[in-house]
Amino acid sequence: MFIDLGRQPSANRFLMPSEVADERFLQLTVGMCEQCTMVQLLEDMPPEVRYHATYRYHASGSASHRKHFGQVAQRFLDEELARRSDPFIVEIGCNDGVMLETIAQAGVRHLGVDPAKDVAALAAAKGISVRTTFFDEPTAVQIRAEHGPADVIFGANTICHIDDQAALLRGVGELLAADGVFVFEEPYLATVIEGMAFDQIYDEHIYYFTARSVAALAERFGLRLIDVEELALHGGEVRYVLGRPSGRQPTPAVAEMLAREAEQGLADPDRLARYAGDVARVRSELVQLLTDLRASGNTVVGYGAPGKTATVTNYFGIGPDLVPFVCDSTPAKQGLLVPGSHIPVRSPEAFAAAEPDFALLFAWNHAEEIMANEKAFRDRGGRWIRYVPDVEII
Ligand code: TYD
Repeated sequence: MFIDLGRQPSANRFLMPSEVADERFLQLTVGMCEQCTMVQLLEDMPPEVRYHATYRYHASGSASHRKHFGQVAQRFLDEELARRSDPFIVEIGCNDGVMLETIAQAGVRHLGVDPAKDVAALAAAKGISVRTTFFDEPTAVQIRAEHGPADVIFGANTICHIDDQAALLRGVGELLAADGVFVFEEPYLATVIEGMAFDQIYDEHIYYFTARSVAALAERFGLRLIDVEELALHGGEVRYVLGRPSGRQPTPAVAEMLAREAEQGLADPDRLARYAGDVARVRSELVQLLTDLRASGNTVVGYGAPGKTATVTNYFGIGPDLVPFVCDSTPAKQGLLVPGSHIPVRSPEAFAAAEPDFALLFAWNHAEEIMANEKAFRDRGGRWIRYVPDVEII
């Protein structure tokens, strides 16, 4: 164990005031396996608590995500899927169909799998074939029996959410065509550690992958890491490509990333041991800043209520006394409370109406888009506060 972020709720389980009393918590601690170097939560929330019918995360919620997943789909259509006749692609955790809609429009055989009923229904309404369930070995066997092997299995911000990686990889092994690829895009440990994105740590993110830990995992289940690529999404992610060992050779990017990770000490217990102190420093600076601003009569409102908001507000002890509300463009979150810290979520219109002096940027990974949308705030003298990688007034 190298960091303990305290008692934390399920980060995307936004609450109605009447639900506060029944809120579930876990001790948010992270550790590294000294054998395979996988970094993971040491305690987890039951999956039904995390992905329930009214799961509030909508992947289509930002223009940058829509653009990214449109490009991901187009690349599959142009490359992996183009070289096959009647190809079949499966997405694990298709959410509201932000990636598969381009595939469906191209008339390519596809299937989205997602246990969260409401978001899966949004995908279905776009004409996407969806199965509302968790992806595991029996589901994989069933899908293969009904549709044949998958040429591509894709997951984005989903694979690190699955507690039973063994069941997942056995399922992938069952479903993947002999020359198929399993591609996934997930938060990267280097971003969390080197980039100080400690708020990527929350109950849904059970694993914090590196090329090294993914390569070790793949090998245990008869697969091989054949490519990696860094992505800007969510503040810094990696796209991993796995194939069967008889297929493609790993690209030079794999060896390059492994070497860089060794330099950064991402599997070095001494390096990781320093991390908790670095996060505690950000905590004291931010809480001091917010306390000083309040004392000098300034108002601070939160901007964006991503899952990350729960980690930072609960670990730092930031409640409605320091940040009276946060605004978020997702209608399904508005009118509810941030898990654990119980800060009310309102619409972006409420932000403009409140005319705050400062805005604390919880959705820091969308800084450019948000600051462009809220140019009026800056024009009338408003200032942004960010805390990843450092506390800074912009
Ligand atoms: P995101 O970073 O996509 O998700 P998470 O960290 O939960 O995986 O969440 C971004 C949140 O910010 C999402 O709730 C929508 C909100 N948002 C706004 O309110 N306004 C904006 O302009 C943008 C881009 C996002």
